[in-house]
Formats: sequence, C-alpha cells, structure tokens
Amino acid sequence: MNIEAPIGVFDSGVGGLTVAREIMQQIPNERIVYFGDTARVPYGSKSKETIIKYSKQIIRFLQNEGVKAIVIACNTASAFALEEMRREFDIPIIGVINSGARAASYTTKNGKVGIIGTEGTINSGMYNEVLKGINPKLEVVTKACPLFVPLVEEGFVDDPITTEVVKRYLEELKDKDIDTLILGCTHYPLLRETIAKVMGPGVQLVNPAYETALELKNLLLNKNLANKKETEERSKMYKFYVSDAAKKFERFADSILPFEIPKTKQISVDE
Ligand code: DGL
Repeated sequence: MNIEAPIGVFDSGVGGLTVAREIMQQIPNERIVYFGDTARVPYGSKSKETIIKYSKQIIRFLQNEGVKAIVIACNTASAFALEEMRREFDIPIIGVINSGARAASYTTKNGKVGIIGTEGTINSGMYNEVLKGINPKLEVVTKACPLFVPLVEEGFVDDPITTEVVKRYLEELKDKDIDTLILGCTHYPLLRETIAKVMGPGVQLVNPAYETALELKNLLLNKNLANKKETEERSKMYKFYVSDAAKKFERFADSILPFEIPKTKQISVDE
C-alpha cells in the first residue's frame, strides 16, 4: 500500500466535516478524500439495511479513489454498518463510536454517562453495548435529538430557537446525575456551547471526532501507513465529493473549516 495514498472519510453529508477537521489538525500530513452523501441525507431516520447498502456503495467509490484506510465519520453509519463493512472489505476501517465510548469511559468519574444522537444511533444500542463492553458497571442513559441536525444545517447554531430545542430534549437527562455526555452525532459538536450551557458545568461533553482522529493516527502508525512527507498546499491534499448540492456543501464547509475548500465535485455512487 502506498503510504502517500489518501484517507477516505465519509458521512451522510456535511456533519462528517467535524471529523475531517480533527484529522486535518491532528495528522496534517495525511491526504483526505471526503464523500458527503448529500442526496440521501439524513441517515439518522433510515433502516440498518439501507445504511449498509449506502455504506458499501461509498466504500467501493473510495477504494476506486485509491484510499489506504476508511473513516466512517457518521455515528449512524458507524452504528449500523461498521462491523459488516469490516467483514466485507479488505482495508482498515474505523468508525466514531468505539472512540467516543472509550473517551467517555475515562472521562466519567461517577460512572453515569449520557448519550445523545440520531434515532438510528440511539435505537441501535451500539454506544451502550460498547460502553458496557469497556466497563459493565457504567450506567448509561440515552436520548435521541432528531431536531438538532436540521437546526445546524439551517445555520441556527447560535439562536434562541435552538436553545429552546436543546433545553426541551436535554431536560430529562439533567435529572439523571450524569457527569459525562457523548455528542453521538456529527452535527452536535457545532452545538457544543449551547449544550454545555444547558447541561451545566458538572457535565463533561465528549466529542468522538477528536478521539477518532487519534485512533486513526495510531492505526496508521501501527500498520506503517503514516505519510511522512511534508504537508503540501491544502487545496492539493483534500478532495471533496458529494452526491448533490455541491455549492451548499461548499458554503457549509467554508463556515467550519479554517481554509477555503477546493471545488467540490458531484458524483453518483449508487450505480
Ligand atoms: N451524520 C449523522 C450522524 O452522525 C447525522 C446526520 C444524519 O442523520 O444523516 O449520525
């Protein structure tokens, strides 16, 4: 495998950019091919079978782009498809859930962890399973927050409407004495300040994106796949593909990445 080959990162749309952003910061030598499935977003309300089908199509596309490893930068796709994709493809693949759960397990002091995410992620029970696998004594409470994704996509990040919605969803978690809350959806780190304010200073927020980038870094080092070559210009290192609405994607990307992204190409992966 060519160590200068890129990392394939995919998500249902723009949210996975929060994971790509961490990878760019923590391992700046690595090239990235990002695919956002903007034609078929949201994944959070779709079935496991559908998400597995989409994930296979996207990984095939990324393999054709010559990637050396894949990051499933979507909590819902990690919950539903990671295990199956690892069986199906002969390439290192990581998701965001194991990393997020691990970070939460060493963040919590009182052993009570909250998880918020899409309906798919929460109903899959995957975070609970992984957390209990790490430490069976952990107490876990979960809450699906389906309105957070559209609010972020509409740009309502710092908005009284969003604060109201966050309060409404998180109210019931506030009585549960949790000291750690996993932001189990790619979009939620963008609501971090509001969520932190609502939950109060006694609750640590865990962003799985940070830990995922660290896991990727270790994986590349262990498998001798880390690119040692000096960083080039950003525009040459990163490629962005979407399945629809490239301009909207570019606008969103420019609002959360610290540089202007190269032109995003629209492609179809479902043939
Ligand atoms: N990327 C998805 C996740 O992290 C959120 C958006 C969606 O529902 O597709 O679960």
